[in-house]
Amino acid sequence: MSLETDEIEIDGQTVYNQSAEQFPKTLPSDIDLVLTSPPYWDLKDYNNENQIGQESYEEYLDRMETIWENCYENTSEDALLIIIVNSRRRNKKFYDIPADISRNAGNWNLIEKMTWFKPNAMPISHWYKDSLYDDKKEEILIFAKNHNYEYTFNKIRVEQKYKDVDPRDNKDKKGRGIPNIIRCPSYKPPKISEGNYHIAAFPDRLAYALTYTYSNPGDKILDPFLGSGTTLKIARHTDRNGFGIELNPDYIDLIEERIKEDFKFPAWEEFDLLHDPDKIDPVDTREERREGQDSSLSDFN
Ligand SMILES: C[S@@+](CC[C@H](N)C(=O)[O-])C[C@H]1O[C@@H](n2cnc3c(N)ncnc32)[C@H](O)[C@@H]1O
Repeated sequence: MSLETDEIEIDGQTVYNQSAEQFPKTLPSDIDLVLTSPPYWDLKDYNNENQIGQESYEEYLDRMETIWENCYENTSEDALLIIIVNSRRRNKKFYDIPADISRNAGNWNLIEKMTWFKPNAMPISHWYKDSLYDDKKEEILIFAKNHNYEYTFNKIRVEQKYKDVDPRDNKDKKGRGIPNIIRCPSYKPPKISEGNYHIAAFPDRLAYALTYTYSNPGDKILDPFLGSGTTLKIARHTDRNGFGIELNPDYIDLIEERIKEDFKFPAWEEFDLLHDPDKIDPVDTREERREGQDSSLSDFN
């Protein structure tokens, strides 16, 4: 394994071009939030001898666990770890990667499991044949270091939908929270064909919702599998200090481009399954969000 580190600063965000199996020495040890989507087992060949994902399933889980342990070592006491990952079917056998990572995450404690609903996900033919249902979701695993800490979660709130029928409406003027099934169309990073990139990027809007909810302006955020740079793009737009590790040197130009990209802040209703997507006003509340979390919107539950 190569231990060489290439550290690059892009618009205040720090990118390390190396393997995440040993964290860079200059990475801060008090990261507040780790947000990542790891290489999925047996899915994409990133053409690098140190890549994770092409080994046996057991070895894959072991190597992943090393990464979660590294994250544990480099985070503050009240840090959170968020992993977005999906299960895999191979030769008719079902590999429940989210469940296996949940059980093999070092000292991290799983505190929440959410679903990312991808309305536009392409049907996967063998999945369709085997399960008869199209796979339109991935899982979002949320881990904490301990159960006692009071975490500053910032609750996303939308206007009450069923005003006439829900008795709780009058009680909470701040609006209601959204379901833990988050609707967010999946996305392909730009120039994927021109650059011949093979990156399974998660949508910047999903990264935004999770960053908003589970961190605060000024926080340090780490993505140990940076890919196209989504996490750091959102860190820049939300005034967080982002750090990313990516093995593949070919992605650095794309990462730089993506960090510098504009971002249109979405209306919260877009993530809300109870709102009809065709009837959502695209509200740009960018300034309000950039200023940080309005305390009237903050919540500890
Ligand atoms: C699923 S992709 C991450 C996509 C990212 N969330 C985005 O939005 O673009 C996984 C990434 O992990 C990288 N990777 C694989 N093995 C690695 C390792 N040992 N250390 C660091 N990165 C690695 C791959 O090159 C790939 O870019």
